[in-house]
Amino acid sequence: MTLRIATVTAGLLVLAASALSAAPPHASYTPDQAWRGRLDYYRSCAECHGGALEGVFGPALAGGDDNLKYQSVKDVYTYAAAHMPHGDPESLPEGEYVDIMAFLMQAHGIRAGSRELTKTTIDADAPATMGGK
Ligand code: HEC
Repeated sequence: MTLRIATVTAGLLVLAASALSAAPPHASYTPDQAWRGRLDYYRSCAECHGGALEGVFGPALAGGDDNLKYQSVKDVYTYAAAHMPHGDPESLPEGEYVDIMAFLMQAHGIRAGSRELTKTTIDADAPATMGGK
């Protein structure tokens, strides 16, 4: 019995280790990138979504009063890149939308990492959510 539990435990550890090593590229961002994204956000988004992301003409994008936390990073990115700024969609370079996502992730309490967010990691890390899970 004890042996069996030990075997099962060992098996689970091996499974957990292989799941970690096989994990897709993680959608992390760096503090510098979030800072760039903040500047881009103030330039292109804040007039409608507010200086504190609280929502003005457009909905809140953070702060508990927002919908984003229920969505994946990929879905929010795809929506923003295709539809925002409202009235002038797709007008920013791809890199600015990506940096703005880094800023939004930071505003949602997702911890920064050592690797920048890219379009590739956004696409690859489908389970990443704005809720930080
Ligand atoms: C001229 C005003 C305006 C500007 C500028 C603007 N937005 Fe919006 N945004 C809106 C409005 C209005 C909505 C809600 C209706 C819609 O989705 O079209 C919205 C919706 C959104 C949503 C979806 C929110 C949700 O709850 O799902 C996101 C994400 C978003 N905007 C991000 C951005 C980003 C990023 C920028 C800057 C690149 C930006 N917006 C610039 C007005 C604006």
